[in-house]
Formats: sequence, C-alpha cells, structure tokens
Amino acid sequence: MAMPINELLTDENIEEQAWRALEQSILYYQGRPIGTVAAYDVSVEALNYDQCFVRDFVSSALIFLIKGRTDIVRNFLEETLKLQPKERELDAYKPGRGLIPASFKVVSVNGQEHLEADFGEHAIARVTPVDSCLWWIILLRAYIVATKDYSIAYEPEFQNGIRLIMEICLANRFDMYPTLLVPDGACMIDRRMGIYGHPLELQVLFYAALRAAREMLICKGNQDIVAAIDNRLPLLCAHIRQHYWIDINRLNTIYRFKSEEYGKAAVNLFNIYVDSLPYYELDKWLPIKGGYLAGNVGPSQLDTRFFALGNLMAIISDLATEEQSQAIMTLIEEQWDDLMGDMPMKICFPALENEEYRIVTGCDPKNIPWSYHNAGSWPVLMWMFAAASVKTNKIGLARKAIEIAKVRLSEDEWPEYYDGKKGRLIGKQARKYQTWTIAGFLLAKELMDNPIYLSLVSFDELSPEVISRACEFEIGSVDPFLSH
Ligand code: GLC
Repeated sequence: MAMPINELLTDENIEEQAWRALEQSILYYQGRPIGTVAAYDVSVEALNYDQCFVRDFVSSALIFLIKGRTDIVRNFLEETLKLQPKERELDAYKPGRGLIPASFKVVSVNGQEHLEADFGEHAIARVTPVDSCLWWIILLRAYIVATKDYSIAYEPEFQNGIRLIMEICLANRFDMYPTLLVPDGACMIDRRMGIYGHPLELQVLFYAALRAAREMLICKGNQDIVAAIDNRLPLLCAHIRQHYWIDINRLNTIYRFKSEEYGKAAVNLFNIYVDSLPYYELDKWLPIKGGYLAGNVGPSQLDTRFFALGNLMAIISDLATEEQSQAIMTLIEEQWDDLMGDMPMKICFPALENEEYRIVTGCDPKNIPWSYHNAGSWPVLMWMFAAASVKTNKIGLARKAIEIAKVRLSEDEWPEYYDGKKGRLIGKQARKYQTWTIAGFLLAKELMDNPIYLSLVSFDELSPEVISRACEFEIGSVDPFLSH
C-alpha cells in the first residue's frame, strides 16, 4: 500500500492513495458492500479494528454518498437496522430495545455468513455506545439528502427503527434537564474521561438526531413522538446555548457568581463554585471575540475543556447561534497552536494532568496527558472542521488545516491519532490506515471544493415545509404502527 519512494506526493496522488486505501477497507457481506472496517493495518493484532464501527463509518458513508456510491450506505443502514433489538429486554445485561450497536463484524459458519453486533458487551470496559443510534439517524437523513429518495425512511421498518431510537432518547428519566443523561465513554471518547452526565458531544448529536428524526417521521401514528420532539428541541437548544457557553463576558459573570442560591430566583442555577474553574488560564486563553461550548454542565460542575467534535457539530447542526459559531471559529483561529498544532485537530484541550489525570481517567495508560483521548490529535475531525469552516464562511482556515495535514498523513500511512502538545508524534498505539482518518481527509477536501455537500449534515432553521411534507405522507393503507 505504501507509495514507491520516488513517487512525488502531489495532491492528486495523495488523494489517489487515500482512495485506494478506502476501497481496501470495504467490508462485504453476502457479496454486497455493507461498511468499512475501522482500520486495515496488517502489522498489528486486529482486536476489534477489523469491525465496522457505526460512528467511524459515517465519514466513509458521507464520501461514498458524495461520489454517488449510495448502495454501500443503503446496505449499511438496512443491515444495522436489522441488528437493532426490537423487543423489550428482560435480561439487564442485554442491549435495550432501540439501541444501534457500536460495531459489527461478518462471521462465517460453514460457509454461511451472518453479522455479529457489539453493543458494548465485548468492548473494553463494556462501554455503552449512546452515539451510534444518533449517528444512524443523522446518516439516514444524509442518505435521503444525497439521493432525494424519501421512500427509504417511510418504509415501516425504518419508521419503527427511528421511533424506537426516539423512545429511548425521550423516555421518562430521573433528571429534569432537556439534555441526555449518559454514562462515561458513551461516544467517540469510549474510555473513562470524566464525561459522564451531560457531555457536549452527545447533546449535540442528540440535537441533530432530533432534527433529522423530525424531518423523517411520518406524523400518522407517531403524533406522540413528534410532539415530544417538538417540545424538546427548543428547550435543548436554549439550554445548550445558554448554559454551556463560555466567552470572556460569561466568564466574568461566572467569576462573580454567588453560590448556594435556593429557589426560583437563583442566577447560578447549577451552583458552580468558581474555584473549580481554571479562570486565570481562561482569562489568558479566551480571545476577546472568541468563545466555545463547555464540555459538560451539571450540579456544581462546569467542565471547561474544549471538545472539538461537540463544538464543530454544534456549528454544523445549527445548534450554536450564528454569533456563537463565529466565536468558536475565532477561538480556533486565535488559539491555532493549541487546538490545531501540527496535526489538526485536538480531540479536547487541555489535557488532564497529574492527580486529575489519575483520578478522572482511572490511571488509564492509553490516555496519559496529551495522548489519545486526553488531548491527542485526531485527523478525522478535519472533515467536521472543514464543514464548520464552510458554514461560517471561513474556508481559508480549512485549507490551512489540510495543507498542514496532507503530506504527513500520507507519509505516516494515515494514523488513527497523534500525540503531543503539538501533535507531532504518531499516536503511541495508533493504527495505521485508519479508515476514518482516510475518509475524513477526502471528505474535508470535497466539502471545501463543493460547499454544497454541507447540506448532507447541516440544518438550517426548522423548515415548516419539511415537517408538513412528512405529515401529509401516507403509505397507502399500511399503518407501520399497527403492531404497537
Ligand atoms: C477507538 C475510538 C473510537 C473508535 C474506535 C474504532 O475505540 O476511541 O472512537 O470508534 O477506536 O476506530
């Protein structure tokens, strides 16, 4: 797979090389393409990197959709939907109704192939993939945007699948926030990193999935879910915009917060103690016009780490206001060395260090400071950065990021992640030929060259037209919900 030494690394052959590697990663099931493996690196033990991860496949799927290769995405959506548990599960160790697995693999027994799903029951630390079902809905909607074929979403199985996902997300629960309460490591960061509670990444994906589901659910038979989505969306949106936002003005307000306020008139709703925040560092770090959404908000908790996926997807999905989106991009531009460094882009910033690292990660040797999830650099994030740049009219920033990354990625054989404060070290345990690194690079280029493709993943203001279209649609005499 490596380039012959004398072959010049032009843009064309870096892309060619990336495409060859992406083709190589395609997973076939009963003769049909159904996904891509996480990494095609024959030099190390596969562990579960030979499986197709739902979150990883989104990057491949979007580039396939752009190139008109819609079959693989359709097959993926259909097959993963079949893996979704449809009945209430009595065994608490089994995946609950509605979940979509973190990953799956093709198993062959006596020449007969079947798919084996992992809902976290095999994963390290048995982490729950909350993001899978959200990404699945977002991808289904991207498929429709690309193909203009709404009929797939209107198939009874798909309506039921969306409904079941919405049911877990919107179920009655203990807490009283519009956000989603989740365990640690339930998303791209799938190890203990102090992101339990209401981490930004999942709140943003939740928001995007609600938006997508709202467009795709037929109202007939789903009135209860549609009403629940309509209730939740504005509350969730306002909650994130208000309580997660940090800029210098907000920091000033928080800095002078009173605490222990009881009752309805409380200003410091979450009872944040300012001494829990690195306010002097933030005072230095926050540019005048910059800002970002905090990593997590909960009782006496404001996690001020910057998490890239959540912030970028908040821009793309229209969860952040126009002003906030511009401020997030300004922050990235002004703190380029910290957030982009020599390999775009940091998964979070800054790293947890010393005692905090030990307590929060549980002394995880893979997540030592400035490594892997603990402020390592993940090239896959480049496509989200490109999409956010397009959305905020800052395409020059995306170009700069790609310029920094492209030759190194190809020379380093497309690593999964990089370590170090500047991202100059190939990740200690990084796979090579990591599929979402490859697809993320191709996708970033494509989004910059053809900004129109942003519509695959972005949302504008809620469109009443789309909603009414879904409400008017009727599938003849077949009611997909008769079985409920
Ligand atoms: C690691 C990452 C996770 C990814 C998986 C497969 O576990 O943390 O986000 O999905 O590898 O690439």
